[in-house]
Amino acid sequence: MNWGMKNRISRIIKPKSGHCVMLAVDHGYFQGPTTGLSNLGRTVEPLLPYADALMITRGAIRNWIDPAVDIPIILRVSGGQSVLKELSNEIITTCIDDAIRINATAITCSVYVGGEFEKETIQNLSKLVDDGEEYGIPVLAVTAVGKDMVRDARYLALASRICVEIGAHIVKTYYTEDFGKVVEACRNVPVVIAGGKKLPEMDALKMAFNAVSDGAVGVDMGRNIFQSDSPVGMIRAVRAIVHENKTVDEAYAIYNQTKS
Ligand code: 5RP
Repeated sequence: MNWGMKNRISRIIKPKSGHCVMLAVDHGYFQGPTTGLSNLGRTVEPLLPYADALMITRGAIRNWIDPAVDIPIILRVSGGQSVLKELSNEIITTCIDDAIRINATAITCSVYVGGEFEKETIQNLSKLVDDGEEYGIPVLAVTAVGKDMVRDARYLALASRICVEIGAHIVKTYYTEDFGKVVEACRNVPVVIAGGKKLPEMDALKMAFNAVSDGAVGVDMGRNIFQSDSPVGMIRAVRAIVHENKTVDEAYAIYNQTKS
């Protein structure tokens, strides 16, 4: 791995703890004005001091994020479909030149293993890895789960390992029972979890805790932070688990204190 690639990864996965809290706000690329992100700039602004990286599209960043912001950007560069149609039918929407213009620290796309357009999404990842290797920009692969997929460890290990074999530098997947098997399938490649649909805060914190205990380097969480009744409380609580080894109860207390 070249120096630039290592440097960019260490801006996201903090060398001090070996962990990271990514804030995902890229949902609009296939969901439109997602609950909590209608005014994306206003939602994100108070959360930035607590996030290690921001996962976002180029349209959102250009329109609603101050270019003077000091946070690594994980640029969502795939899309082309919507919730109204087949989700796996993705293309690369943003070329590497534009990612460099934006000063992206990493680029990201989804891979739909088992989906109708499985091969095309693996091709997308492959192209990003070729471009990323050329310019020293790491690629985060998202194991997106189509409607019919069972989110168990066997499936997620299969999907995650394929992303690793194609060359992803970080894998984002879902938490499941036996999550250690998913991490093991990726060997030395860092794994983060998505939060998924909004859960009660305590459950989301338990999920983050279990994922990190099972070997994830952290989270790339969206809805369970920005749809919370205290988004700042939630991201601070998640951060305490991911970076400071706090228990779920300690983290929940941070959420409650911040909320009140
Ligand atoms: C969609 C994504 C989203 O960024 C991610 O799933 C959002 O995070 P969350 O599930 O925590 O809202 O990668 O494919």
